[in-house]
Amino acid sequence: MSIKYVGRPVDRLDGRAKTTGQARFAAEHPYPDLAHAALVHSTIARGRITAIDADAARAAKGVIEVLTHENAPAMKPPPARSLLNLSTMVIGTSVNYLATDEVHWNGQPVAVVVAESPEAARHAAGLVRVTYEELPAVVDFAAEVPNATPQKGNALMPAAADKGDAEAALAAAPVSVDLRFTTPPHNHNAIEPHATTAVWDGDRLTLHEGTQSITWLRSHLAQRFGVPPRNIRVLSPYVGGGFGGKGSVWAGTLLAVLAARATKRPVRLVLTRAGVYHTVGGRTPSTQRVALGAESDGRLTALIHTSVARTGRVGGGGEQITSASRHLYDSPNIRLRQSLVQLDLLSNTFMRAPGESIGTFALESAVDELACELGMDPVELRMRNEPARNPMDRKRFTHRMLREAYEVGAERFGWRERDPRPGSMRDGRWLVGMGVASAYHPAFQLPANVTVRLGADGGVVVRCGLHEIGVGAATVQAQIAADELGVPLESVRVEVGDSELPEGPMAGGSGQTASAAASVMEACRKLRRAALDLARKSPDSPLRGVSAPEARDGGLFQGASGETYAAILTRAGRDHLEVTAGGGMLRFMAKTVRERSRWVKAASGAQFCEVRVDRDTGEVRVSRWVGVFDVGTVINAKTVASQLRGGIVMGIGLALSEETLVDPRTGRIVNASLADYHVPVHADVPRIDVHCLDEPDPTMPLGLIGVGEVSITGVGAAVANAVRHATGKRVTDLPITLDKLLPL
Ligand code: MOS
Repeated sequence: MSIKYVGRPVDRLDGRAKTTGQARFAAEHPYPDLAHAALVHSTIARGRITAIDADAARAAKGVIEVLTHENAPAMKPPPARSLLNLSTMVIGTSVNYLATDEVHWNGQPVAVVVAESPEAARHAAGLVRVTYEELPAVVDFAAEVPNATPQKGNALMPAAADKGDAEAALAAAPVSVDLRFTTPPHNHNAIEPHATTAVWDGDRLTLHEGTQSITWLRSHLAQRFGVPPRNIRVLSPYVGGGFGGKGSVWAGTLLAVLAARATKRPVRLVLTRAGVYHTVGGRTPSTQRVALGAESDGRLTALIHTSVARTGRVGGGGEQITSASRHLYDSPNIRLRQSLVQLDLLSNTFMRAPGESIGTFALESAVDELACELGMDPVELRMRNEPARNPMDRKRFTHRMLREAYEVGAERFGWRERDPRPGSMRDGRWLVGMGVASAYHPAFQLPANVTVRLGADGGVVVRCGLHEIGVGAATVQAQIAADELGVPLESVRVEVGDSELPEGPMAGGSGQTASAAASVMEACRKLRRAALDLARKSPDSPLRGVSAPEARDGGLFQGASGETYAAILTRAGRDHLEVTAGGGMLRFMAKTVRERSRWVKAASGAQFCEVRVDRDTGEVRVSRWVGVFDVGTVINAKTVASQLRGGIVMGIGLALSEETLVDPRTGRIVNASLADYHVPVHADVPRIDVHCLDEPDPTMPLGLIGVGEVSITGVGAAVANAVRHATGKRVTDLPITLDKLLPL
């Protein structure tokens, strides 16, 4: 019997390259005549450039060129967003950089300096003097909330959904809560800041870029620079963290490509940390209302969830803030609304569980508050309202194990030890609190094309233009291919992150692994078939009379008879066998629409959190965490646990410290640095116990559901609920900083 790799905690295949520094990221590719770019950012939110004085910058040592709207070569304008062309959905903004004197947000790039060194470029960027005519700008989200209008054009979810009459049911409910929540904007802080190395050779472009969507990036660049997509090669074998921030095409990439074209030099642009804040979108802020009505036994009679979020006037889109409220609780009356305001700020973008992360903060905080009102255990309240079918439309769940997640989680966490009275659990000066919340994220897939090649030496090469954004994406596909073909993992190589590979899925929506797995499995099946057909053509093959051999031990066997792939190919005089699998977007969309009309499928989980709150200072420390998840089949216990843990860490940031501060007078982000924008560090993160139920989803390839996003959902609420338990205070305004708790 061959060793099976699926399910095992296999080490990442790229681990050695990364830990020894062999892995080259986008900013690490040497070119002999490489030039370096730096951006000049606008200092007003809205208006026109009346003058740019770049003389001092041009005269500075090492400066090659300063590009402004007065002298930059033209790019074609960005195409309009359209669902018929998904590549247009990843356009960061609709601004035609350096082709216009218009300014649309504070921080928009208005000039690019190209110099012989990064230091010279940055120094000269500081010498560019820009004069503006300022126009009134709308930048204060809180002030604009009353002007919100219904969200339009979110392909993933309609903005409004109703069942029954929720307002009337709420008014009539014997027990109810009605809460308002606010969450701040968040910014992306991947370890690798966005970086581009752009090299033109005539009208051919080579681009080294850390991206979550090589194909769509290539297609966007082709449109902007007027060359066919085949002239552009995007290389992105390693990405130092994505989280959605590298899913869209932002100014830095376009301007590096433009600068390389203008100067006829290879150009590298590495955004400063502040540059990431000013040119790469982040998470929308929100205001939300969640109101719940219940019978005195806890059964919900009304669920209302409304939200207001923001986009930029020049880009961005609605997020799925009420998503979990469509699926988590049975209620005869449900009312959901998502609204938007447009501001003169950089557009929002995908950021790990866009919508769900902050939507579950509100929903799951309100459910906890209802449990307090009812005097009922919050786990028990959730179990009483666990639906048998999807609450909005009675569709079947393909798979639902929230009940099991809570049972296992309560046991692992020691939930029974909890004294429900607020402030009743103490450890010296620390008030101890325990909170729970549900996690929920829909399953999502895209088409993936792959080739699998089997060599006469028994080596297997899987090729797919997918993205290794630091999660072990290539490793799990190698495990799957090794099992499907019955070969050792060491003999499988997976090539990713190159636009010359067969077109893969974008790394987004937690869908990449399942998308690629479906095609890898299909290709491996074809390859087994092709190998068997080849063997059976030979009168000497032990597989001659065999119809359904097993793939194992590096070949095909039935009982004792069979032979290795190497033997099959060698006898046939073949150097290799190669097959392809996958399919186009249209066929895929049709399948998705069909499935969605029948089923609802998602990853889910139960988050258990313990906090300690300092009685005197209000300092909140997360002291224990248990997350139990239903993510279908676990392909790699190690990388899955790491991904789930990472989402919880990011959620702890959302709960306790992360907040982008926008000056309401100027629209400037004033904390655009890791010193002022606080992501959790090791000292903020306890040991996190992650457990997966590991039951296959019957409708997904190998039964796996994506793991990228589900684990950040529910985290904000689990922390807030634990703080409520520790202190008796319900904080509805993220982040939960000590000023919102004092005096205790
Ligand atoms: Mo994700 S926010 O779809 O990278």
